[in-house]
Amino acid sequence: MTTVLVVGGGGREHTLCWSLGKSSRVDRILVAPGNAGTALAERCENLEVGAGDLAGLVDAARRESVDLVAVGPEAPLAAGLADAMEAIGVPTFGPSADCARLEASKAYCKTFLNELSVPTAASATFREPEPALAYLDQLPSVPVIKASGLAAGKGVVVAETPAEAAAAIRAMLVDGRFGEAGREVVVEERLRGTEISVLAFSDGNDFVVMPAAQDHKRIFDGDRGPNTGGMGAFVPSPFATGGLIGEVSNRIIRPTLDALAAAGTPYRGVIYFGLMLTEEGPRVLEINCRLGDPETQAVLPLLESDLFEVMLGCATGSLGGVQVEWSGSACTTVVMSSAGYPTVSAKPAPISGLKEAVIEGCLVFHAGTSLVDGVIHATGGRVLGVTALGNTLPEATERAYAGVEAITFEGSHHRLDIGRRPLPESVRVPLSHGGSIR
Ligand code: AMP
Ligand code: GLY
Repeated sequence: MTTVLVVGGGGREHTLCWSLGKSSRVDRILVAPGNAGTALAERCENLEVGAGDLAGLVDAARRESVDLVAVGPEAPLAAGLADAMEAIGVPTFGPSADCARLEASKAYCKTFLNELSVPTAASATFREPEPALAYLDQLPSVPVIKASGLAAGKGVVVAETPAEAAAAIRAMLVDGRFGEAGREVVVEERLRGTEISVLAFSDGNDFVVMPAAQDHKRIFDGDRGPNTGGMGAFVPSPFATGGLIGEVSNRIIRPTLDALAAAGTPYRGVIYFGLMLTEEGPRVLEINCRLGDPETQAVLPLLESDLFEVMLGCATGSLGGVQVEWSGSACTTVVMSSAGYPTVSAKPAPISGLKEAVIEGCLVFHAGTSLVDGVIHATGGRVLGVTALGNTLPEATERAYAGVEAITFEGSHHRLDIGRRPLPESVRVPLSHGGSIR
């Protein structure tokens, strides 16, 4: 009897459950806390344990004789969940708190990258407002202002004017917006270019790059409005040629993982590089210590190998012996969110059309959903990730949108331009994929 405990309750975690559910080696999947999608999924069972309840998660892992813990979100990793599981001998897919600092402290991440000469935006870190504001005055262009700590994806202000940048600095360092997370602020050169997400499985030594994704962070079409967790993604990014992924592997991923291993903190899990493809080449915008959401919804359907074996390989330092194969298809995920997202939370609303979306050929991954009297309700935030595969990106995208059209709930919102924006002539090259760069 093999039991996996998945930690988290979003679209990423439903996708993990779906993918693990295809493994012939997995008998039972426990999800803490899960959502309506995981409650209804085969071999899945939701636990009433929050993703932040480390003691509760450790208890559950012991009580249920869990064989592998797969951690979705960053906060429990930064709080030491993988270390706590290691202490009781349960293999865990997700890095130690030491490694998770790369996401939990942007200030630390910048120092780490600069020491290794990994290409990233120029920056300076401040704890006091006056020197930060004085530094702003010296800069030739308006920088990006970042709360150093974890701020649920909301701690980055891409300012358009010096006044906006100064206001963001004051909000964080004087008014205490973001609390502890904003006590330290990174003031960073604004980079221009195309953003891609390059994720890799790592066992601390070997790594395997996934096909690269493109996320859509802003709430409205044309990248307008506030940043969100991500409103849709497609894989593979046509910008991610074999040459580019080779460069990213050699100049960014390999040095990062080697430095962590040399420090005695091998990285086990998924490492996520948010990159800006600038005219001078790829530069790191951020490192995340986990799978992306909604990138996971669009990348895992392309994994042809057994996710359980890949995760166990990462957790136990034996990824080198695991086959990791990707299909040559494309995949698009369109997120449907509730009214008011990302600022206001909505009242629960029943969802209809889920079966019809499946008939259209879609996979529907749940995020903010729950069962109310046995009926699936939208409960706010990002609600669903409607996903489809296709032989080409346009085919996957149009199929995903057919699924979106079939689904209704009060106040639902989605972007219309996921995977649909024309690409510059220069990138219309044959699609390439991630591979087994070890
Ligand atoms: P981060 O959490 O650091 O990735 O920032 C969130 C988002 O802000 C990124 O996905 C980018 O869209 C944007 N961003 C962050 N840093 C920069 C930068 N240096 N230049 C331009 N945009 C940025
Ligand atoms: N989609 C961006 C993230 O997961 O951080």
